[in-house]
Amino acid sequence: MTANTDLTIEKVIEHHPAIDIVEIPPEDRRREVKSFVLRGQKLGTHQLEALDRSFDKYCLTYSPKPFDFEKIFGNRNPVVIEIGFGMGESTLKIASDHPEINYIGFEVFLFGFSKLLYNIEKAGITNLRIMRFDARQAIASMVPQSSISGFHIFFPDPWPKKRHHGRRLIQSGFVELLSSRLVSSGYIYAATDWEDYAKQMLEVLSACPSLKNAYDGFAGRIPWRPETGFERKGLAKSYEIHELWFVKK
Ligand SMILES: C[S@@+](CC[C@H](N)C(=O)[O-])C[C@H]1O[C@@H](n2cnc3c(N)ncnc32)[C@H](O)[C@@H]1O
Repeated sequence: MTANTDLTIEKVIEHHPAIDIVEIPPEDRRREVKSFVLRGQKLGTHQLEALDRSFDKYCLTYSPKPFDFEKIFGNRNPVVIEIGFGMGESTLKIASDHPEINYIGFEVFLFGFSKLLYNIEKAGITNLRIMRFDARQAIASMVPQSSISGFHIFFPDPWPKKRHHGRRLIQSGFVELLSSRLVSSGYIYAATDWEDYAKQMLEVLSACPSLKNAYDGFAGRIPWRPETGFERKGLAKSYEIHELWFVKK
């Protein structure tokens, strides 16, 4: 395969305009507080080519209709959703290790998104789809009630400054939403290296009436979770990792 060095992100977006739409446009022009900021980073040729070639094959796009998982994956296997996969290395490993489970990963950061897309193509796996969209909005409007077997939230942005705590993903309203989408005995698995956020997660998840903690406090290290890119940075600074595993009652 020869590299198409003329390909630019503008051309790719012209071919696939949905790549550039990451949220539902607010009707009253007032954008809600977001859990992310969009970071720009120049994409390499492999990433651009993967987007151009495989966006329609492996990527989901926003529509106000609920997902039809059987149509998406061609089977009725359980579905697990990951929110904020970053560069997606651990996402790919988990999906490759568990072909009997279908995975949907959300990430708005285009560099990481296109990198994972390239790696999905290369690995040729069929049980992983990705979506470049605000996961909060997509889950609220496209994921049917009681349809998801698990949610993975690995090292969500810690938003350390107090005035930014409202941007944190793990808040009671969002946890209620996730719980409403879980099948009975489905799980929420979260991990963080930010101590004060870990305590907040434990509090918020424990306060959700439809969830119960599978552990006494924090979970131990879950053996099958591969180390993530963000986790490596935290470990290099000797941050302690906290993991949480809650189950739908
Ligand atoms: C700190 S990074 C961690 C990435 C990865 N899980 C890891 O451990 O290396 C958090 C990621 O979540 C993404 N993110 C935050 N809020 C999101 C949302 N509402 N929808 C989709 N992605 C989101 C950000 O773009 C960011 O890349």
